[in-house]
Amino acid sequence: MDNDAISQAAERLSAGQRLVVFSGSGLSAESGIPTFRDEGGIWERFPPEDFAEIPGLIKTFLTHPDRLREFVAEGIGDAARAAPNAAHAAIAELQERRQVTVVTQNIDGLHQDAGSKTVHELHGSLFRLKCTRCQHRVDLSRQEIRDLSERLGEPLPMPAKRRRLIRLMLPLLRRCGECRSRMRPDIVFFGEQLPAEAWQQAQVASMHCHGMLVVGTSAQVYPAAMLPAVAHDSGAKVVVVTLDPRFEARWANQIVVGPAAEVVPAIVGEIE
Ligand code: APR
Repeated sequence: MDNDAISQAAERLSAGQRLVVFSGSGLSAESGIPTFRDEGGIWERFPPEDFAEIPGLIKTFLTHPDRLREFVAEGIGDAARAAPNAAHAAIAELQERRQVTVVTQNIDGLHQDAGSKTVHELHGSLFRLKCTRCQHRVDLSRQEIRDLSERLGEPLPMPAKRRRLIRLMLPLLRRCGECRSRMRPDIVFFGEQLPAEAWQQAQVASMHCHGMLVVGTSAQVYPAAMLPAVAHDSGAKVVVVTLDPRFEARWANQIVVGPAAEVVPAIVGEIE
């Protein structure tokens, strides 16, 4: 690891009191959750047009229910079995001594499990359901999600695969306790609006921070990906931690290439 780069990054992020950590799936890679766009990533095996947009999801359910079962089983299973890594822990520790707002694109709940407070989940959470009508929300435990991923682990027996899949997924589609309408996972699919409160808070924090640590994101998905530019253009120092040696962005003051679980604790350890 390049110690000079670590010290330089820490110095940049020590320049002011208010920090934002903006994280993507690369932060959780060392917790065993695959990223989306790396080689062998989720979108290579489950194309987003078929699995991450509502119309595509419906088509996949109707035409290839077993593939949808596999996608859900793998996606929720990896997250449910994951534990925070040293990078999540370092970010939570930094929040103890600096004014740090965590803005994440991840839906795995690992920032909170590591002890982070003030976490804005721009793409929602696997561990929460929301009512399709009144927006009432309920939390789900890691165990509930783990049990569901195991039940979804087996191929659907004939006949009536689609009906069997619906029955298996019912815990995620339960009736709302407030208005009795159907609930759904509180995650943001492509083409859907970001949760208004989280998005609003994330923009304000990015506009007013002195430094932003961007960890494990290809910064390709908008509007979330505009936040580092907002921070930079508002005068903040932006440090990127990534595994991609080709990563570049006009808003990056520094790019540190290395695994988050190693690099983030090293940088945090040198921030006074
Ligand atoms: N340490 C640091 N960075 C890593 C690591 C690691 N151990 N492993 C991978 N990375 C980097 C990769 O180099 C890549 O730049 O993390 C980035 C992951 O990029 P993506 O797979 O595109 O994931 P992300 O940026 O989080 O995607 C954003 O896109 O598909 C949607 O909703 C989904 O929230 C997701 C959004």
